[in-house]
Amino acid sequence: MDHVDLDVALDPEATRVKAQLKIRRNPAAEKGAAALALDGEHLVLDAITLDGKPLPERAYDLTETELVIHKVPARPFTLSVETTIDPEANKALQGLYRSRGVFCTQCEAEGFRRITFFPDRPDVLATYTCRIEADRATAPILLANGNPVERGRLKGGRHFAVWHDPHPKPSYLFALVGGDLGRIGSTFKTASGRKVDLNIYVEHGKEERAAWAMDSLKRSMRWDEVRFGREYDLEVFNIVAVSDFNMGAMENKGLNIFNDRLVLASPETATDDAFGRIESVVAHEYFHNWTGNRITCRDWFQLCLKEGLTVYRDQEFSADERSATVQRIQDVRTLRATQFAEDAGPLAHPVRPESYIEINNFYTATVYEKGAELVRMIETILGRDAFRAGMDLYFERHDGCAATIEDFIACFEDASKRDLSHFKLWYSQAGTPELVCSLAYDRHKKSAELKIEQALPPTPGDARKKPLHIPIRVGLIGGNGQEIPLVRDTGEAIEDGVLNLTRRSETFRFVDVPSAPVPSLLRGFSAPVNLTMSLSESDLAFLMAHDRDLFNRWQAANTFATRTLVDMVRRLKKGERATQRATAFARALEAAVSAPDLELAYRAELLKLPSQSDIAREIGRNVDPGLIFRAYRQLTRVVGSTLGAQLEDVYRATRDRGAFSPDAESAGRRALGNVALTLLAARGTAADVERLSDHFFNARNMTEEAHALVLIAGRSGTLREEALARFHDRWKDDHLVIDTWFAAQAQSPLRAALSQVKALTRHPLFSLTTPNKVRALIGAFALQNPVQFHRPDGAGYDFLAAQVLEIDGFNPSIAARLLGAFRAWATLESGRRAAAKKALQRIAKAGSLSRDVTEIVAKMLDQ
Ligand code: ARG
Ligand code: ZN
Repeated sequence: MDHVDLDVALDPEATRVKAQLKIRRNPAAEKGAAALALDGEHLVLDAITLDGKPLPERAYDLTETELVIHKVPARPFTLSVETTIDPEANKALQGLYRSRGVFCTQCEAEGFRRITFFPDRPDVLATYTCRIEADRATAPILLANGNPVERGRLKGGRHFAVWHDPHPKPSYLFALVGGDLGRIGSTFKTASGRKVDLNIYVEHGKEERAAWAMDSLKRSMRWDEVRFGREYDLEVFNIVAVSDFNMGAMENKGLNIFNDRLVLASPETATDDAFGRIESVVAHEYFHNWTGNRITCRDWFQLCLKEGLTVYRDQEFSADERSATVQRIQDVRTLRATQFAEDAGPLAHPVRPESYIEINNFYTATVYEKGAELVRMIETILGRDAFRAGMDLYFERHDGCAATIEDFIACFEDASKRDLSHFKLWYSQAGTPELVCSLAYDRHKKSAELKIEQALPPTPGDARKKPLHIPIRVGLIGGNGQEIPLVRDTGEAIEDGVLNLTRRSETFRFVDVPSAPVPSLLRGFSAPVNLTMSLSESDLAFLMAHDRDLFNRWQAANTFATRTLVDMVRRLKKGERATQRATAFARALEAAVSAPDLELAYRAELLKLPSQSDIAREIGRNVDPGLIFRAYRQLTRVVGSTLGAQLEDVYRATRDRGAFSPDAESAGRRALGNVALTLLAARGTAADVERLSDHFFNARNMTEEAHALVLIAGRSGTLREEALARFHDRWKDDHLVIDTWFAAQAQSPLRAALSQVKALTRHPLFSLTTPNKVRALIGAFALQNPVQFHRPDGAGYDFLAAQVLEIDGFNPSIAARLLGAFRAWATLESGRRAAAKKALQRIAKAGSLSRDVTEIVAKMLDQ
């Protein structure tokens, strides 16, 4: 396909699409093959001509999913196809649809085939020209990929715009927008001095709230020039925010389309976390311009080629813009909560999957987050300079191509002259490796032996695994807190601290170790693995206070907390008092958090406990989410009481009266204030409740207001009713902020949560066809409320199953994603396990399921 000419006449229920496709036979095609198959779904075919001559009906076959032309010429030819589509009826939000009256598109992965007949696969690259025609009054803004060419008025109140994208691209990167939108504009001068017009289009009246996204965009553009030598390549870069969107955002060439919650932010309406997410997603989509668009994927099995790499790049950007350690901690928290959970259950798959029924089901934490970890490991193994050389080679060698993981890896091998063939196994082998480590010290020889074994738990369809190449960054810490230089018995000094484990079991010997050291392993989380090492509580407390690697200091606290919670759950199960060991943890935490020179955001991370689902995974079988919740609440209370006086000081110190600024340091101060508030509220004295109430009613920004609302919604009483009523009245006209109100109630651990969630599905501000609403209410209940979703009576499961079935009728992607909330069902205790299984079986037996849900439910039950 050399060139695509589209002419789109926008109309809510009958949009006409005329496509002119310039096609040439693939020289590599089989001799004599003459048929041409084009993908197409939900299209009405109006006309079809080949080189201007109408094709008779017998010349082609038309099915629900394909248009097959029996014989096309061997010479280059032009195929013209006219189709009609109904954007208003499109609630799957793939292809062309309407969101609050705005026409917009989502083509990744296979949405373009809902716009016109096309070889809708990522290795077919063409240039595009797109003419859009629409009502001037309802759609004054008309946008498509590339650069603007022409625009003008037509009769009947219509107008048109023509856009041309000179960069060959696959169909999944096509986009168009038509609507009545507000705009903020700016410009960017690239490193080589070209001027780029930047625009962000949002709902009228919300323009000011796009300022942070614009700022983030400009910083991203500069960062990619400095860090990776990548410049932008069109005259304009447009971002459009829409309210109905299945995912976060989409990197369409020159015309990124965003879920509006990832664009709009002001201090009054958005939390610091939202500001941070906006910054990173704006960066992510922008970075795709090189990793995804200029170099795209040969097929969807290579999805991690663009996604893992681009997540790595956005994480690096955030680390550079903010605190690198805090960023790493947050990324690892997310990785464990999402990807480790996926890897441990029925949906486990390799970073490069080997099969799929519905590709939308593979936009997963494994492809994205674990994919990013694989790129980071390559950097750890090669070192920063060789890694950059490999990236440079990748951009040089594959620009304009549809590439594979093999192509990518070869660039690093060629640039560094290192062999990564063993490392490549990470792309095809699913599951989270377990590292079992032990350290033996010989006081006479002054040597230490670190033994590391890797165990690879089976995953569905893959029982026996090969050992992986795992980079493990380590340190040995002497009793005085000093780093001991790492010198192996071979004489080799390990300056960067990285050991390369390649066998199932390996022992690393270090010499000149003056005294028994405490090992600090997997520094910076150098590989996506679980680590087991029998460190004593005092070793953990020591690491929490002294490890030079701040990530591992946090990790020691996290390990100590996890161990404490697991122990508490065991005691609760036996009906014992559970809090004896909790105090030891709280004391260690107190010492760690008061160490000098720590960033406030870092202190906040130290004070946050691991998630309840992390604890469930640690326990692994016969899990009782009710007991985990009780242990969690008790430990929070113990920490709140033990550190009470210190937390009060911390809280007071974070109450600045200055103007709001979204920068990382100010956000860190607010994060610390919020976590102190949480712990003190758990202590629960009258003064603590008063503080909580004040934090809410006198909040100076959404970071405070939303945090307090969630805490208050978790407690019964009049404060709860007052706070929810006030939040509702204040924000009912803001469709983004009100999602916080839905989510706060959905996450409440109170017993009434399920009946309230059910009632809220009938609230006038709720809408089952808007994914953000579904995520805020149903998603928050199923994923952020373990104790109520996993009610022992199974009512939470029945509710979710019913919602999945209803949503599947119009938006299969969202239905399949919600269904993922069941993924740990087989690890539950027997009563809940049986109830969850019944709910899953009910879904499986329902008629006319989508491909999306069929695939997920089959995997869930196949164990
Ligand atoms: N490529 C987008 C991103 O990561 C995600 C879009 C996925 N959409 C989908 N329907 N599967 O930035
Ligand atoms: Zn992406």
